[in-house]
Amino acid sequence: GKGTYPFYMLKEIDEQPTVMRHLISTYADANGKMKVAPEIVESVQKADRIYIIAAGTSYNAGFGAKTMLEELTNTPVELGLASEWGYDMPLLSAHPFFIFLTQSGETADSRQVLVKVNELGLPSLTITNVPGSTLSREATYTLLIGAGPEIAVASTKAYTGQIATLAFLAKAVGEAEGNTKAFEFDLVTELSLVAQSIEATLSEKEKIGEIVAKNLLTTRNAFYIGRKQDYFVAMEASLKLKEISYVQCEGFAAGELKHGTISLIEKGTPVIALISNNEKVALHTRGNVMETVARGASAIIIAEDGASRADDDIIVNAVHPYLSAISMIIPTQLIAYETSFQRGLDVDKPRNLAKAVTVE
Ligand code: M6R
Repeated sequence: GKGTYPFYMLKEIDEQPTVMRHLISTYADANGKMKVAPEIVESVQKADRIYIIAAGTSYNAGFGAKTMLEELTNTPVELGLASEWGYDMPLLSAHPFFIFLTQSGETADSRQVLVKVNELGLPSLTITNVPGSTLSREATYTLLIGAGPEIAVASTKAYTGQIATLAFLAKAVGEAEGNTKAFEFDLVTELSLVAQSIEATLSEKEKIGEIVAKNLLTTRNAFYIGRKQDYFVAMEASLKLKEISYVQCEGFAAGELKHGTISLIEKGTPVIALISNNEKVALHTRGNVMETVARGASAIIIAEDGASRADDDIIVNAVHPYLSAISMIIPTQLIAYETSFQRGLDVDKPRNLAKAVTVE
């Protein structure tokens, strides 16, 4: 049950530090060595391209892990929307490896692609939260997230759990390949720091509630912006806000605003900027925030410690850049939750939606 929590979503948001620690004990031994099945590692090693197929939040989780996966495995990663790839497959590489990201393991769109992959006799891995689920049974391999049942329609701990699971896979493959970067990436330590960063953000609930009360209670639309990794987080942050608060929200690459979308900014439009600790992009994103403020936007800045300034609205404890999608998503989950809650909506059961989408 949800105990003293008003909604499952808040309980599931709060469980994320535990999910991170659980994954450490599942996929690393006491000496920090990876415990990912060797046949999975070998199969990924043989691939010249990794295709990640998913829908909704799971699709966004794939983006959250893309750069890390590419750098550690030295293999290009392509993302595919399950609902698009179920028709004709695009031109594939010579040795593809398919990863299906799916919390429920029952998403019909994703299964449709897996059926095609199996017809082609290609290797596949399902990363899921539900043991024995359809996509788990039908793929060549399975890795479990082990996040515990996710009841709220809005996915939270599955997103962060999927990225963390992909980190173990990426490191295991990278080490098998002899990639120095993989050995240097101390995932057990870094993921423990992520758990602590999440806890620190969770202790800011009240402050986040006030930010929501001030900026998001009556608005019809909003923007999340960021560059690179923060852009991927912006996509997920905006999906979450739309899904449960019915605020129309776009997740945008900060540099693209000036190519058209900035015309939507009016007096009071909330623009939430995500600025993680990446010196290549942080200043550019701040510049884009100023451009929207000059046009009347109400800017809310979520910055990672190291890239943050004293007057930023929410400061997130710094983590390894490979894992920043996990720590940076937390304040946005709370923003979505608070916006829905304060508007008096049914946070766990948004209108028109089901937990597992079993129709195409
Ligand atoms: O079970 P799956 O991960 O395959 O589900 C995919 C999407 O339907 C799901 O992530 C959906 O977007 C969530 N309700 C978003 O919070």
